Amino acid sequence: MLEARGLSKFYGSVLAARDISFCLQPGQVVGYLGANGSGKSTTVKMLTGLLEPSDGQVVYNGQNIRNNLTAYRKRLGYVPEEANLYPYLSGEEYLDMVATLRAMPKPHKSKIISSLLHLFSLWPHRHVTMGSYSKGMRQRILLIAALMDNPDVLILDEPLSGLDVTSVLIIKNLIQALSARGKSVFYCSHILEVVEKVCSHLIILRKGQVIAQGTTSEVREHIGKSSLEGVFLQLVEERDVVQVANEIISVVVPA
Ligand SMILES: Nc1ncnc2c1ncn2[C@@H]1O[C@H](COP(=O)(O)OP(=O)(O)OP(=O)(O)O)[C@@H](O)[C@H]1O
Ligand SMILES: [Mg+2]
Repeated sequence: MLEARGLSKFYGSVLAARDISFCLQPGQVVGYLGANGSGKSTTVKMLTGLLEPSDGQVVYNGQNIRNNLTAYRKRLGYVPEEANLYPYLSGEEYLDMVATLRAMPKPHKSKIISSLLHLFSLWPHRHVTMGSYSKGMRQRILLIAALMDNPDVLILDEPLSGLDVTSVLIIKNLIQALSARGKSVFYCSHILEVVEKVCSHLIILRKGQVIAQGTTSEVREHIGKSSLEGVFLQLVEERDVVQVANEIISVVVPA
């Protein structure tokens, strides 16, 4: 089980996350929602151990992750928000490097990488340098890298960014299948239609603070909205979206 205990993060004087606590149990898929700049990626970076919290701690199976970050990371798969991939490495070389860093055994790692390159439709591109990959191809490489070592906890920061329709459908089904096998998934996204389908639980952030938390149906019932879009707009968005759109038109398009 992964636990966030009172996590806070200051960047200089900016408080990006304030007293965030939750549990991620085996088999749970937790959707982490919030407007741009609300603190989702900051939380994710603390959960993965990339960023040290200003206050609070991340606990995995009863241990502060800082006590043994290497062992914790071995159980973790992480898809970051931005793909900072080495442009001069081919997709296969990159995956091989990640597998080596994760100490995956040799024959096993080559077999898994080949199978996943096929399944993610990247096999014909495996020797091409990643600098010439499309956005969706880079995203698929990140997904393979996160999955290939059979993680118990998967942390996904906007994993569908740039993916085509088929890939999105595969990932949706994959998340459900991982959860059925007892894996925990922490899923940050703005695509509410997908969140609604795959998440058993929701955490909603506003300006760095948790403002709603519970099972997906509990959160919906509590707010009294049938759709997640309605919940989100009521809790997070202070502006009338139709009015803002019309105001943009009135600025750009002459009357
Ligand atoms: N490295 C940084 N240095 C200073 N401020 C930062 C840094 N990273 C994030 N912030 C600030 O922290 C706040 C939360 O940012 P964060 O990236 O966590 O938001 P987010 O919810 O992931 O947003 P998005 O939906 O746009 O990805 C923002 O005010 C942002 O400007
Ligand atoms: Mg983010």
